[in-house]
Amino acid sequence: MTFVTSTPVQDLTRDQAAAELAELAGEIAAHDRAYYQEDAPAVSDAEYDALRQRNAAIEARFPDLARPDSPSRRVGAAPAAGFGKVVHAVPMLSLDNAFAEGDVREFVARVRRFLGLSEAEPIPVVAEPKIDGLSISLRYERGRFVQGATRGDGAEGEDVTANLRTLADLPVRLRGADLLGDDLPAVLEVRGEVYMSRDDFAALNERQKAAEAKVFANPRNAAAGSLRQLDAAETAKRPLRLFAYGSGEATGAEWDSHWEYLTRLKTWGFQVNPLARRCDSVEDLLAFHAELAEQRASLPYDIDGIVYKVDRVDWQKRLGFVARAPRWAIAHKFPAEQVRTLLRRISVNVGRTGTLTPVADLEPVTVGGVVVSRATLHNEDEVARKDVREGDTVIVQRAGDVIPQVVAVVPELRKPGTPPWTMPDHCPTCGSLAVREEDEAARRCTGGLVCPDQAVERLRHFVSRNAFDIEGLGEKHIEAFYADGLIRSPADIFLLEERDRGVLTPIAAREGWGLKSARNLFDGIGERRTIGLERFIYALGIRHVGEAMARLLASHYGTLEAWRTAMVAAAQDRDGEAWRDLVAIDRMGPAKALAIASFFAEPHNLAVLDDLAALVTVRPFERSATAGNSPIAGKTVVFTGTLTTMTRDEAKARALALGAKVAGSVSRKTDYVVVGADAGSKAAKAQDLGITTLSESAWRDLIGG
Ligand code: IVH
Repeated sequence: MTFVTSTPVQDLTRDQAAAELAELAGEIAAHDRAYYQEDAPAVSDAEYDALRQRNAAIEARFPDLARPDSPSRRVGAAPAAGFGKVVHAVPMLSLDNAFAEGDVREFVARVRRFLGLSEAEPIPVVAEPKIDGLSISLRYERGRFVQGATRGDGAEGEDVTANLRTLADLPVRLRGADLLGDDLPAVLEVRGEVYMSRDDFAALNERQKAAEAKVFANPRNAAAGSLRQLDAAETAKRPLRLFAYGSGEATGAEWDSHWEYLTRLKTWGFQVNPLARRCDSVEDLLAFHAELAEQRASLPYDIDGIVYKVDRVDWQKRLGFVARAPRWAIAHKFPAEQVRTLLRRISVNVGRTGTLTPVADLEPVTVGGVVVSRATLHNEDEVARKDVREGDTVIVQRAGDVIPQVVAVVPELRKPGTPPWTMPDHCPTCGSLAVREEDEAARRCTGGLVCPDQAVERLRHFVSRNAFDIEGLGEKHIEAFYADGLIRSPADIFLLEERDRGVLTPIAAREGWGLKSARNLFDGIGERRTIGLERFIYALGIRHVGEAMARLLASHYGTLEAWRTAMVAAAQDRDGEAWRDLVAIDRMGPAKALAIASFFAEPHNLAVLDDLAALVTVRPFERSATAGNSPIAGKTVVFTGTLTTMTRDEAKARALALGAKVAGSVSRKTDYVVVGADAGSKAAKAQDLGITTLSESAWRDLIGG
């Protein structure tokens, strides 16, 4: 299930961003596996793109949070193992989309502007159904089929020559070739779509079911899965078809128009979609679109729109490309198909970082060629806004290719007395309290490590580079050890070697492991038995406690014992001294202080911390070498007003490095208040309390420049 959170990227805090990047990395990787290795995508292309875009946007705002396993570091569709790679002589591009009539008018107007044509000049455009299959490139040399490849990432695809040869629609020799093929293009790359008809798809799924083999979600996945069989004999048994519609490299062949090219394709022996039509005006295009939208459901194969292509090849050449799509073509999509179905139940899904998401469990229905049985409801506000209730009849759609959405309920079909739905305030997986912070749409499980849905992510964070930095314990291993019960909490990591001695299959004997790698893992863990307080705090994965906050806490409290005692006290008494001291830490504020205190209010979290502390040595916070003898070491400093020679953040960093504590508000504990330009109430309060105030230059003198 996929969920893009609704918080705008610019409103995300660092911690939220980091958590979301972690969630996105896992999710996108899972979709990649489903798509590329299993040919069974769980989401549509559009939804997948939305996830990648969100990931990119968050990384653009927080570049330093980009993860080593970030999807942005992996490029699209790496060819799956098992097929050779083919670099496309001419890249296989995609198409821009038009959804509304206005988009189509704008497309034609743009072409007209670009070519400098008068209003009177007709622009012939070929309209063709957009086949929902997978695009392939077929290379012919002197009329003989020599190589066929999938699109892959557009630049490089998989060599599926042997499989393509089994297609009845594919001419292995172009018709009209003389014996030597001298009258044929030296090189011709034909582009087209491999697809499966609806009837063939249904029959194939019946056979698969009978054989207890994989059932495909839709004809497109069935076609992709069938073409990518490692054994071409398997592909031969699958009813794949092919429509040709485009060209790549072409040497020794020319045509003036796309229409002429389509005609040529037919004489060479290809199947060209019989519905293709040459139009002379936008009105013709729109009429054709409307006509096919009507026929769509009764066509023998799936189409998801109409492709419009400027007919004249000389114009195509002048128009060229923008980014990854030609300026001379566009895909006019069909509106989302909407269907009614029964919403059986609203269940709640717990994400890797604890976000609770309501999900509609639906009576399965086919929408836009896919059987849909679940749809995200995003969050509790969304459920309330649409007033969705269990047992309702709802309207479900897949917009373009987007994942199923519940558009609305059909109120007149609601049974009287149906109660409104409410979000549980406890985690459905682990039973811990689920809380919703102010200004947040999401409710989160506070179970952390005790929640099986979050534990793996928490452990992954625990061993990550800036936390305990344990090498050789990747996510896959954590998942496996978690599943076996070997590692359920951080302390278990430090008991791993000992426990491993007593088990039937030690780690070294497991698949993918050996004596050496197991030894390395144990050594890697051993090296981290001593750790600095700031890393220790960060590793706990407390909400809102990122690296910077962990450092502030470590610097403020100095030792684990002092921190633990203060936090337990702050958790017990929201008015007490410990709480006030915590809130006053610079950049803390009540929301973050509350998150920290809540962590300590949960006995299971204290148990995790104490079990761990018993197995590792936590070094007190170390102030830098110069810090000890600096005049501000141990002093509490508050900055206010605008500084002129450095930014506020630089000034704070400097103060911290010199061993000071930086606070956000003035209290009796404050030693110095550094007053910049236009300082307000903090400077006044310092005066009232008789605290030393320093100008920016006096401050610089004090710290030595
Ligand atoms: S022309 C330069 N024509 O749509 C782009 N594409 O979104 C050439 N498709 O990857 C594409 N039917 O898989 C073209 N009649 C048609 C098509 C078609 C389906 C697919 C193709 C392409 C995608 C672009």
